[in-house]
Amino acid sequence: MAALQSLLYMKDPYAFYQHLRERYGDPVMIPTMNGTLVATGDPDGIREIFSARPDTFGHWGADALTPLLGEQSLLCVEGAVHMSRRKLMMPVFHGEQMHAYGGLFKSITRRHADALEEGKPFLMQDLAAWITLDAIIQAIFGVLDPAASSRWASLLRELIDRASPAAIFFRILRQELGGISPWAKFLAVRAEVDAMMATMIAERRQSGLGGQDILTMLIQARFDDDTVMTDGELRDQLTTLLVAGHETTSSVLAWGFYWLEKHPDVRATLVDGIRALGPDPEPMALSRLPFLDAVCNETMRLNPIVPDVARQLLKPFSLKGYELPAGIAVAVSTILAHTNPETYVDPMAFKPERFLNHTFSPFEFMPFGGGSRRCVGAAFAMYEMKTVIATLLCEYDLRLTSDREVVAARRNITMGPKGGVEMVLAGRAAR
Ligand code: HEM
Repeated sequence: MAALQSLLYMKDPYAFYQHLRERYGDPVMIPTMNGTLVATGDPDGIREIFSARPDTFGHWGADALTPLLGEQSLLCVEGAVHMSRRKLMMPVFHGEQMHAYGGLFKSITRRHADALEEGKPFLMQDLAAWITLDAIIQAIFGVLDPAASSRWASLLRELIDRASPAAIFFRILRQELGGISPWAKFLAVRAEVDAMMATMIAERRQSGLGGQDILTMLIQARFDDDTVMTDGELRDQLTTLLVAGHETTSSVLAWGFYWLEKHPDVRATLVDGIRALGPDPEPMALSRLPFLDAVCNETMRLNPIVPDVARQLLKPFSLKGYELPAGIAVAVSTILAHTNPETYVDPMAFKPERFLNHTFSPFEFMPFGGGSRRCVGAAFAMYEMKTVIATLLCEYDLRLTSDREVVAARRNITMGPKGGVEMVLAGRAAR
């Protein structure tokens, strides 16, 4: 039973959750290979989870992430250790810091899109992944020479591609088999990333710390007790940011272009709004454009990249009147919340204007999770997505190659458009 539920969940969490809601209501109890999970998509239940004291929860499912990200990764630690790491890392992604990235996002987008051949189909997910990878690599390490940057990008893509969902979810499949198994190949790439990271950290420590890049900021940051991050911890946090900071954003971008092409009226309204800002608008002006914000939000509502966020109960917890014991886990099902017909009229339709007319609460709309573990890169991701969408939309004529319906599929821990959204460059606009 638990194995079957885990398999169904792993394969298609969207269908899995919707079937459970139709059959059992909310919340739902799910026996999984990692223990019992009680999930809710109801705003009241979500409020209870996201507003609970952080010490109510431990980390559920960290075992799935540690091989990829490392044991000290912000995504894998819990309790006081998590809070202190988070406090150190949050400033790196805050307000003023974002200004520095706008020009970077725009120039990287143009560089990759300029390389497209007119008339030759490409996958939007791939184009977006190279853009977002380049962006996070340069934000983390500062400007690298093109060879070093592309070495990092290829290696990280390989690391993520080799992190198969099956081995992530089923521990038993993590067998090296004399070095020939997929798991052994994943470990080999992981070792290569670790070695490159160690060299990068050592070089940065030696060369002085004048830069404004994330690596420099994290080397300099101090915990409340005046200690600093060790090299091992820096490696885990940087790997986490590199992995969490691009795959998610590139999937949203691929979905965004899919929906915009399916809805030419929405696309036209968006292009008019961007053009009204004048030629070559500033990224900061773009980031304040309400309709662009609404398009990004509606894309993440319909296609949440992370289908749910789970927490292990360290103490008994009351969820919607059910008394739950310590040891099991609770989850906010983003999929259920984002398609809740009591919150969203016509929930399966792509209608960005719903975000113009109404402000949804953090318990109704949570593409970046919530509470004490909410995504630290949310502002970075939103700023990047808006800059990339506006640049591609206004400077390149990109079209879907077919009108087939694209569905969601698991990439590893996250979900993305199955097949990657095939598009073609039909022309370029004068800049
Ligand atoms: C559209 C893009 C993104 C989406 C949809 C997304 C979504 C999420 C979600 C759902 C979580 C879990 C939150 C929870 O448990 O409540 C999360 C955590 C996290 N994300 Fe993102 N993310 C995105 C982009 C980024 C970027 C750009 C970065 C870094 C540059 C980043 C770094 C992280 C980190 C470090 C955590 C762990 C936070 C913690 O446990 O305290 N993410 N993200």
